[in-house]
Amino acid sequence: MSATFFGHPRGLATLFLTEMWERFTFYGMRAVLILFLVASVSTGGLGLDDKTATAIYGLYTAGTYLAGLPGGWVADRLIGAQRAVMLGGTLITTGNFLLAISASPKGFYIGLLVIVLGVGLLKPNVSAIVAGLYPEGGARLDSAFTIFYIGINIGGALGPIVIPLAQKFFGLRAGFGAGAVFMLLGVLQFYFTRKYLGEAGVRAAPIHALGSDTTLVPRSKEWTRFWIGTASLALVVLMSSAGWIPMDALRLGQAAAYVIAGMAILYFAYYFIFADLTTEERKRGVVLVVLFIGCALFFSGFEQAGSSLTLFAERYTDRMMGWLHFEIPTGWFQSLNSIFIILFAPFFAWVWIALARRKLNPSAPAKFAVGVMLMGSGFLVMAAAAAIVAHGSKVLPYWLLMTYLLHTFGELCLSPVGLSYYTKLAPKRFVGQMMGMWFLALSLGNLVAGLIAGEFDANNVAAMPGQFMHIVYFSVGLGAILLVLSRPVKKLMGNVE
Ligand code: PHE
Repeated sequence: MSATFFGHPRGLATLFLTEMWERFTFYGMRAVLILFLVASVSTGGLGLDDKTATAIYGLYTAGTYLAGLPGGWVADRLIGAQRAVMLGGTLITTGNFLLAISASPKGFYIGLLVIVLGVGLLKPNVSAIVAGLYPEGGARLDSAFTIFYIGINIGGALGPIVIPLAQKFFGLRAGFGAGAVFMLLGVLQFYFTRKYLGEAGVRAAPIHALGSDTTLVPRSKEWTRFWIGTASLALVVLMSSAGWIPMDALRLGQAAAYVIAGMAILYFAYYFIFADLTTEERKRGVVLVVLFIGCALFFSGFEQAGSSLTLFAERYTDRMMGWLHFEIPTGWFQSLNSIFIILFAPFFAWVWIALARRKLNPSAPAKFAVGVMLMGSGFLVMAAAAAIVAHGSKVLPYWLLMTYLLHTFGELCLSPVGLSYYTKLAPKRFVGQMMGMWFLALSLGNLVAGLIAGEFDANNVAAMPGQFMHIVYFSVGLGAILLVLSRPVKKLMGNVE
């Protein structure tokens, strides 16, 4: 294959652009979602109260990560990653289109569900194809993922600028319509350039008969499972839209948090008791549990970006650029994370290398602890801003800017090491499942973030500084405990670097 994309095979450009447009749509839509949910019916919104809206927001974002589990399974077992990406992109387009045109709240929620399923099919599998382009792995693959990650963040930076603008000029729903169009662009791009991917992700993995390396079994059993799952989901949707299953977003969100936490506990119990682990693997399993908790904790703060922090930007931040007579759309704040990632990721990479040269490279658990504490300190800034608001004035945008900067620094400490240690610390035969657990932790964090965001009361701004401080105490405290534990925990990792 001739190298034509920053010294990489042309196929990487196909995947880069697909993921860029997907993130563009995803983060662009997310930047306006909470505001649409709480906007009054007379202005074209859904007119929900904050508690319900933040719960729906949490369920939606948690869903997109959870859906990665069946999404990966469908690609591996049934249709291959390429077709999963096509199908996922088509569903995301359809879902956003439904958000734009649905006349009833019901149609809107179905649109959200369709997007969730689409992201679950597209996101994990497009990354899997990146890996598939470099069967030899190593430094070339790392470099490919670095480029791919830039694509993610170009999309993540531009989407939340363009979609809120579309909304500002063409109406509340137009933003969703624009999202649909951009995702469609991504899908068509993928379809017409997928030939550059070669064999990567074309087919599902062969399924071997038990105990045999050569005898293949047909996929009929997997297809049956697939259709049972799909039919059950369709049934739940039908019954709830007919009003037979009462849907209360807040209670659903709370129940889902317990279910996900319960799934994690059961899985780890199974892992330690029945998985036939060696002593070494058992010790590393403890590290996986600690990192799971750290991840869920971090994202339960970080992922309030699009809920409580967006509501703060909308209601209490002076977004008027006086000299331009232009009010910054609230959604624009959501592009800061990606912009900061692009600006500071190289700096962080340099810091880790410089520290490693001096043999000071912090261990993965230590980086997690620092990440959680940075997240907490971001909320300290919010507490200060909220104290000004409690005195009755709006604040300047710099407070939120600072919070998002600290949160991004936290992400840069925690997120890149997280997934890589999840694959390194698990025995080979469990790598796939452990990646699923990482996504489960992310999902749990997102859900809890929605529930915490629901605790803020727009009619009681006086309580706001204290509520932000609660998050600070909790996360800085637990971060400190993690830091103290990081030495013994690192010992448990053995020789894994
Ligand atoms: N923003 C990146 C993405 O969407 C990475 C990320 C994922 C960061 C999940 C936080 C949570 O892929």
